[in-house]
Amino acid sequence: MTAPKKLFIKTYGCQMNVYDSERMAESLTGQGYVATDTAEDADMILLNTCHIREKAAEKVYSELGRLKPLKTAKPDLKIGVAGCVAQAEGAEIMRRQPAVDLVVGPQSYHRLPQMEARVRDGQKALDTDFPEEDKFEHLQGRPKARRAPAAFLTVQEGCDKFCAFCVVPYTRGAEVSRPVERVLGEARDLVERGVREITLLGQNVNAYHGAGPGGDYSLARLIWALNEIDGLERIRFTTSHPNDMDDDLIAAHRDCPKLMPYLHLPVQSGSDRILKRMNRSHTAESYLRLVECIRAARPDLVLSGDFIVGFPEETEADFQATLDLIEAVGYGYAYSFKYSTRPGTPAAERPQVDAAEADERLQRIQALITRQQRSVQDGMVGREVSVLVEKPGRHEGQMVGKSEYLHAVHLDGSNAAVGDIVSARITAAKANSLAGAPV
Ligand code: 5AD
Ligand code: SF4
Repeated sequence: MTAPKKLFIKTYGCQMNVYDSERMAESLTGQGYVATDTAEDADMILLNTCHIREKAAEKVYSELGRLKPLKTAKPDLKIGVAGCVAQAEGAEIMRRQPAVDLVVGPQSYHRLPQMEARVRDGQKALDTDFPEEDKFEHLQGRPKARRAPAAFLTVQEGCDKFCAFCVVPYTRGAEVSRPVERVLGEARDLVERGVREITLLGQNVNAYHGAGPGGDYSLARLIWALNEIDGLERIRFTTSHPNDMDDDLIAAHRDCPKLMPYLHLPVQSGSDRILKRMNRSHTAESYLRLVECIRAARPDLVLSGDFIVGFPEETEADFQATLDLIEAVGYGYAYSFKYSTRPGTPAAERPQVDAAEADERLQRIQALITRQQRSVQDGMVGREVSVLVEKPGRHEGQMVGKSEYLHAVHLDGSNAAVGDIVSARITAAKANSLAGAPV
């Protein structure tokens, strides 16, 4: 028997890339690969890249520069670049860094086994197509390894919204939803492998409209179908666009027992002038009204959001409107980014905000967000939550898991096992987690 080859995947960016990396690893098990955590051990290194912000491609090139000596020391090592930088840069990657053997875009990774065979043969392999066949279906029937209790499941990809700052519609292509039966099949398979919580993923997940028995399913209808699966206990979804939050989905937050009270709902800015220039097609007020409806349906729901500061032509008054919106909403989590010019997007051509000004705004927004997150966490102290136990903690008798609100909870003196869902009383709020005692 030949020794297994070792695969090291470094994942950048979003949760969809985490899902894609897992699928890529599975697709290469048939070629005799097992995962390793160290690049030095690997026979194949894949960088699964993200193109959404700041100098993404340059970061990949410098990482490749760092990996090159490994290949000099071990000429059989194969190096590949996957994901959105691969899609955007294509053959340019191999031209700039000849140590790269393989470049695969996010829609083609089901073809990795064939590509791997080519590079083993000493050739280069490049595939950045948007193929007709469905990559997800080509990944079925892989070995049924036991899985951690919380898993991602991609149900929708791509985006038709064309926000003026964003590369996703270009790198991931038009919006596509996976058929309902396929999603349910994959969910059942995950549950058989030990999964109890599934996060449905999509760049625009609430625009989901997969073909199902008797017609198209909305995301709400899909969630209700998943709710029927025995053994699946928790459902989440991310990322949502405010304009696709329909009444059924809001009602599901009230009525669907397995849908968790947490929602990531990016608004990007609190200024209508900027929202218009961003091509967001909602206003600050319509967003606030929506938040009100969602909270009326599920009062304890924890909201999270994304914000961009320093978008072209953003004034101090525009920025202040964003801070005001954050104050008005009260986010449990929020992610803020300095605007980063993405070549080829409409906003790239517009007058840019001074970099020092944008840095200063970023610091101010982050200070506000940190304060707000902290106050939501403090508000959890004394409350009873349910915790899905994910792993042992650092101390003897400590287990770590996630509450229904997605807070990390450290449980002391717990005899729970990984995969259990236990009740806990929150005893303290730490910087990035909560402490809880079993009840
Ligand atoms: N610059 C800064 N942030 C961006 N995002 C997307 N594109 C850009 C960009 N060009 C942010 C948005 C989005 C999140 C995933 O990344 O806030 O919601
Ligand atoms: Fe990008 Fe906007 Fe689509 Fe989100 S909705 S992926 S920010 S274009």
